[in-house]
Amino acid sequence: MDGAGLVTAARISAVRGRRVWDSRGNPTVEAEIRLASGVTGRAIAPAGASRGSREAHERRDGGMRLQGLDVKHALAGIRDTVDPALKGLDARDQEGVDAALIEADGTELRHRLGTNALVAVSMAVAHAAAAADGMPLWRHLLGETEAVLPLPEVQIFGGGAHAGRRIDIQDFMVMAPKAQRFAQALEWSAEVYHAAGKLLDARGLRAGVADEGGYWPAFRENCEALDVLIQAIETAGFTPGEEIVISLDVAASELRRNGRYRLELEGRELDSDALAELIGRWIETYPIASVEDPLAEDDDAGLKRFTEAYGEQVQIVGDDYLVTDAARVSAAAARGVCNAVLLKPNQRGTLTETRAAWETAKENRFGAIVSARSGETEDVSIVHLALGWGVPQLKVGSFSRSERMAKWNEGIRIEETIGDDARFAGARPLRGKYGSA
Ligand code: PGA
Ligand code: ZN
Repeated sequence: MDGAGLVTAARISAVRGRRVWDSRGNPTVEAEIRLASGVTGRAIAPAGASRGSREAHERRDGGMRLQGLDVKHALAGIRDTVDPALKGLDARDQEGVDAALIEADGTELRHRLGTNALVAVSMAVAHAAAAADGMPLWRHLLGETEAVLPLPEVQIFGGGAHAGRRIDIQDFMVMAPKAQRFAQALEWSAEVYHAAGKLLDARGLRAGVADEGGYWPAFRENCEALDVLIQAIETAGFTPGEEIVISLDVAASELRRNGRYRLELEGRELDSDALAELIGRWIETYPIASVEDPLAEDDDAGLKRFTEAYGEQVQIVGDDYLVTDAARVSAAAARGVCNAVLLKPNQRGTLTETRAAWETAKENRFGAIVSARSGETEDVSIVHLALGWGVPQLKVGSFSRSERMAKWNEGIRIEETIGDDARFAGARPLRGKYGSA
């Protein structure tokens, strides 16, 4: 086929949406793109539970049915607005397609079409474009650049909004920066995961499974989770701070009550400085290499002070604070707030915007982590995005539940496909004594 023929073949001929279900049993949007050549691409929108207030808006039906979470309006938007707007566009021009989506929505935070509709369509277009070139998405995005497998962040205990607030801190995670390969990092994390489960069982503290697959523990204090995690790392045969380091997502916006922070489990309320001090003490005491949202999204001054105090030692990740927004990343970098960004495509709505946040992070020497949401599906697009964009860290939840394992397993497949040339990010993205830079 000549050049013109190729372009014609990659033109979008139809955009369809359908309702499917996520890992919490809630409705979500799947989009399917058909190209003129007959090639298709498909993707499913995830959904968060501890969302930043500046995130793009999900279109949900409201009302009594399905807890108000149905997506009929989002699907109608795909049928009536997105399909006509995208028909005839070249699927390989992701920026052009995403610009058309943003224009069709016409609102700053995607109130009209909804980020759930937009992200599914945007990712499905990327898959269709890759399929048109006969490649998996990661390779299509990567081009001639060398592939680097990301460092996994694996949840062991889940709390906060994902586990009935049984512990206040949302994620207690591990990372294996000394592993040689992605697959080995997962194997080491699996050993820690199972060791932690056995320790909880032995103490009668296993209360269930949190939304992202981690154990839902019945601890009396938040730092008990850190003590048990250290024990689990040791029982699994590793040295904490060596092969395995700890990563926390405090998700502090969820703890905010009238300008203070409520630690429900411990029955106490802290001001910004006291919470920062508590986390600081944990950083001094335990091998913590990364802390996400240590203070709330509206506690700008607190986050700045926290970054000044600990930013050299640990990765400080903005999730609710940065909401995958390039402009917010660049403003935060200019002010010295946080030093890494969590990249969640549905926080903005399109891949182009998500990629812009990553490019801005790189320009400002910010770290970055591609992340799943607490409501997920079998969709593995984010693994391809991390690989294809060269983002050196990946967070998809725990080491159980198939919506999580599907993503880890996809990374294993990709690493095997690349073969001996596969490089692993390892400690490179981390800071201070846990980094290798
Ligand atoms: P969410 O939380 O997907 O429920 O918003 C994940 C996170 O805070 O990282
Ligand atoms: Zn978070």
